[in-house]
Amino acid sequence: MLAALEEEMATNATLPLLESNLVFGEGNPNATVLLIGEAPGFFENEKRRPFVGRAGQLLDRLIAAVGWKREDVYITNIVKRRPPDNRDPLPEEIEAYKPYLTRQIAIIAPRVIAPLGRFSMNYFLPAAKITRDQGKLFRFDSAFVVPLFHPAAALRSTGTLEALKASFAKLPIVVKRYEELIQRQEERVSAGESQSAIQEHLL
Ligand code: URA
Repeated sequence: MLAALEEEMATNATLPLLESNLVFGEGNPNATVLLIGEAPGFFENEKRRPFVGRAGQLLDRLIAAVGWKREDVYITNIVKRRPPDNRDPLPEEIEAYKPYLTRQIAIIAPRVIAPLGRFSMNYFLPAAKITRDQGKLFRFDSAFVVPLFHPAAALRSTGTLEALKASFAKLPIVVKRYEELIQRQEERVSAGESQSAIQEHLL
């Protein structure tokens, strides 16, 4: 299913930034955790893989520090082609790529989503501010969302790096909490509680 979506994107000639390569994303197609960056950079465009440059190396260290492997999670970007000179993605570029992110999320169905930086954070939480809201826990449909600072920003500031490390370390705790909620939900279903009462508990 992800392969079909990638193929559809690759052949969509109406998307912006067509002069660069498609960097669709990679990882476990059934991942519990989805990490979403901004847009591919130079190395990502070369290799057609997300987060393989310096920011990606930091992301790899953050993933390893919580005892996970890169291939256990799924990594992608909100804009899936490189903007020229690594400039910020434009609002219309984000809009054009958004429907594909929506469908990618629906296929992977992650439990915990960590947007990296404000562009992907604002997809889930349009009014959020990254400095105020990073590391906080939000609900989005049936997933938990924990906005994090972008690793590239953390490479430029020690304070940001420390905050990113501390917030990233919360992700396994959030995964555990989600699993406990699901477990309790299943117990309630077998005890015959109504679905609407259960839903209230989850939210
Ligand atoms: N920065 C991003 O936002 N995404 C990448 O894939 C690499 C760097």
